[in-house]
Amino acid sequence: MEGRLTAVEADADERAVEAALRPRRLDEVIGQERVREQLGLVLDAAKARGRVPDHVLLSGPPGLGKTTLAMIIAAEMEAPLRLTSGPAITHAGDLAAILSGLNEGEVLFVDEIHRMSRPAEEMLYMAMEDFRVDVIIGKGPGATAIPLEIPPFTLVGATTRAGLLPGPLRDRFGFTGHLEFYEPHELDGIVHRSARLLDVDLTDEGSSEIAGRSRGTPRIANRLLRRVRDYAQVRADGVVTLDVAHRALDLFEVDASGLDRLDRGVLDALCRRFGGGPVGISTLAVAVGEERETVEEVAEPFLVRNGFLARTPRGRVATPAAWAHLGLQQPLGAPGDEPLPGS
Ligand SMILES: Nc1ncnc2c1ncn2[C@@H]1O[C@H](COP(=O)(O)OP(=O)(O)OP(=O)(O)O)[C@@H](O)[C@H]1O
Ligand SMILES: [Mg+2]
Repeated sequence: MEGRLTAVEADADERAVEAALRPRRLDEVIGQERVREQLGLVLDAAKARGRVPDHVLLSGPPGLGKTTLAMIIAAEMEAPLRLTSGPAITHAGDLAAILSGLNEGEVLFVDEIHRMSRPAEEMLYMAMEDFRVDVIIGKGPGATAIPLEIPPFTLVGATTRAGLLPGPLRDRFGFTGHLEFYEPHELDGIVHRSARLLDVDLTDEGSSEIAGRSRGTPRIANRLLRRVRDYAQVRADGVVTLDVAHRALDLFEVDASGLDRLDRGVLDALCRRFGGGPVGISTLAVAVGEERETVEEVAEPFLVRNGFLARTPRGRVATPAAWAHLGLQQPLGAPGDEPLPGS
């Protein structure tokens, strides 16, 4: 699935491009109104009291702006930001080293915080609550705990899997912001903003065409914009119009609802070969010539979220929206087909 245009994750090259597109201040952020307002309040209150803000947890699917908001928190507090991630902290000692190097008021960003090791997590509890850790020196019966003071800091944790965070860790955050998928008009605003930064000439219709196919995700919107820009430069006069966006996205096989080739393949097999289901995920995967994991983890979440596919105890089932999307007539008696009143 290399280079999939609708992938939610970004590779290293893409992260570099993304850095240039990140809003730097809270008032530059488009969408996420609730989180923005809540976070603004938390930060303003801390500033007014002259204290460091409470620890902040940001949760939500990939590509919606968790890292962006973490950087904004530091910028708004005019504080330095230190970055690390759960998988990078394998020992409690790794965390002790980071914590003891913090300066007062610094923002420590721990990405993928749900992937931190257990002992590190326990050390973090104490640091978050009391700004203190116990560093264990030596081993066995002779080991001693040396208490170490840490200057007040703000922990910003990000996770795509809030459900995997142990309760005691979740409870130590003073504020949790849940990021939601974006509405098309918000993505439209993001595409316009990115086009301005990338110096891309774009019409309103071109922008909303890209926004509509971006699966509610700014990362995907920005990626589609870059591909459409390529197309506009090579096959047109450089301007992203509705027609150019349309042709480019058709070429890259991202359809009007943001479904790609794999997504459509899955729906197509489900409807045409299995009469709309129910069918087991493994059977479905064989039918589209993919690994079961690929279908389950890459295609299915988006199809379920957008109401094209339903998971039932007996297997996967196509919804009326799936039949309609493929331009097929849903057969009478197919799953999800309601009997007509009185029939
Ligand atoms: N509200 C927004 N307005 C404008 N651009 C945004 C917004 N949210 C995210 N973006 C853009 O989307 C891209 C991805 O955002 P970001 O890296 O913050 O996502 P993330 O939630 O940290 O993803 P991951 O879970 O993969 O780490 C960035 O280039 C960022 O500029
Ligand atoms: Mg991130």
